[in-house]
Amino acid sequence: MTKATIAVIEGDGIGKEVVPQGVAVIETVARLFGLDIAWDRRDWGCDHHMRFGRMMPEDGLAQIAGHSAIFLGAVGWPTVSDVLSLWTLLMPIRRNFQQYVNLRPVRQFKGVPSPLANPGEIDFLIVRENNEGEYSEVGGRMFPDTDQEMVVQDTILTRHGCDRVMRFAFDLARGRKKRLTSATKSNGLIHTMPFWDERFRAVAKDFPDVATEQYHIDILTAHFVRRPSSFDVVVASNLFGDILSDLGPAVTGTIGIAPSGNLNPERRFPSMFEPVHGSAPDIAGKNIANPIGQIWSGAMMLEHLGAHEAAAAIVIAIERVLASGENLTPDMGGTGSTTALGQAIASAVSVHRS
Ligand code: NAI
Ligand code: MG
Repeated sequence: MTKATIAVIEGDGIGKEVVPQGVAVIETVARLFGLDIAWDRRDWGCDHHMRFGRMMPEDGLAQIAGHSAIFLGAVGWPTVSDVLSLWTLLMPIRRNFQQYVNLRPVRQFKGVPSPLANPGEIDFLIVRENNEGEYSEVGGRMFPDTDQEMVVQDTILTRHGCDRVMRFAFDLARGRKKRLTSATKSNGLIHTMPFWDERFRAVAKDFPDVATEQYHIDILTAHFVRRPSSFDVVVASNLFGDILSDLGPAVTGTIGIAPSGNLNPERRFPSMFEPVHGSAPDIAGKNIANPIGQIWSGAMMLEHLGAHEAAAAIVIAIERVLASGENLTPDMGGTGSTTALGQAIASAVSVHRS
């Protein structure tokens, strides 16, 4: 990895607490592995909206378009509508930077209590379509405030959009257990999801060595709970992937540890790394948020930037600290704090792999 310039957006709520922990751990590995990282901090989010009437400056995207990556906490605060905070900060970054893959690993760590009696070895990847699908601006409302009031929200699936995210998922599966699961609902959504299935079959032809299966989203959520260890790579539309990627980590104990990469695989634009969770206003400011989702997202960022050993060192440090059972935050059944857990992971980072 050559010199990297990272845009840092803490955002709102617990984003402001977990991002500093993520940055501190990355700085520790950067020193150990001799990485040259410059941090470019941006105070964008709901506070920025309160002060300036916008979540980010008008030319915000242009300001960071040339950066190596974006390290984000979470956005959303009760003073600003969630539609506005999401659609004028997060969505513009994901869409304009063509981060069409949202990669979300799910793992059962030793030391983290699962709500399942026998969780087994859970270690799989969710590949969520991140640019189109059910999350679209196409639609509208008519006859507001009358008895005829109506709303329409369209799902947008394109051949280009489906094929590129499916290809990414097949490639990943090819490098792992050569098994790919597709989430569908082609019995209920009679236009979009049969098309999704059709594209899945078409793309599969180029990957004859990868075994495929597909499930309707309703029974797939049940399988995620009943036999999570049977999955390896799961590809899903924007909404289904969003739901599955809260459920998967919840089954491993807590969504507080779940990381994600919003990837522009062609690297024409910076990719963005953020935990799966949101700004958690209910626990914000208490120093009890789990920082692992953010720290692990930092490892994914280093991996993306080519610093493989440094990335692995962070994941190993997370494993060690969790297995020790010390400093665990309340969502994992402990009494530890955000700062203590973050510091424990930074201290556990070492160059020597065991
Ligand atoms: P959330 O993920 O913020 O919180 C859900 C539940 O999980 C809460 O009980 C929270 O305390 C807990 N939780 C989340 N992260 C945790 C952590 N690191 N450690 C311990 N507990 C944790 O989702 P919610 O409540 O639906 O949304 C809150 C706000 O966040 C909203 O404004 C929403 O729009 C926004 N949001 C933003 C996202 C993003 O920036 N990518 C993603 C999801 C929600
Ligand atoms: Mg979500």
